[in-house]
Amino acid sequence: MKEKMLIEKALAAREASYSPYSGFAVGAALLSKDGRIFTGANIESASYTPTICAERVAFFTAIHQGVKEFSAIAVVGGKAGESVSAYCAPCGVCRQVMAEFCTGDFEIVLYDGKSPKVYTLNDLLPERFGKADLS
Ligand code: THU
Repeated sequence: MKEKMLIEKALAAREASYSPYSGFAVGAALLSKDGRIFTGANIESASYTPTICAERVAFFTAIHQGVKEFSAIAVVGGKAGESVSAYCAPCGVCRQVMAEFCTGDFEIVLYDGKSPKVYTLNDLLPERFGKADLS
């Protein structure tokens, strides 16, 4: 099952989180339409602003490798050093990055350590601003 596999990859990616300031570790696993998986974890900075979310690390890694079509992402987060025990929904900036590269049916899989919850981009960012608005 696609969701389970993506969650496992996101949990493994979370191990590489660099989050000494928030103590909140996030992992993401992004599935491209051609079946490849790109992972990411959040990376923080002492000056805070350069901090990047796990989701954007996964997206930008894929895009830099020439991959721009995606079907799903799993996101897991929670207190660093502990197991995931609550859902961690993508922040607004990451939702906007998803909107740049994904269609409304793009799936966002969340996990609380027990059961997955699956949303679409349409669910999480309705009425979004995008490239069509600039054409
Ligand atoms: N974070 C993510 O990696 N993804 C999200 O969608 C929400 C927040 C990170 C950013 C920061 O390093 C930490 O979680 C606390 O906000």
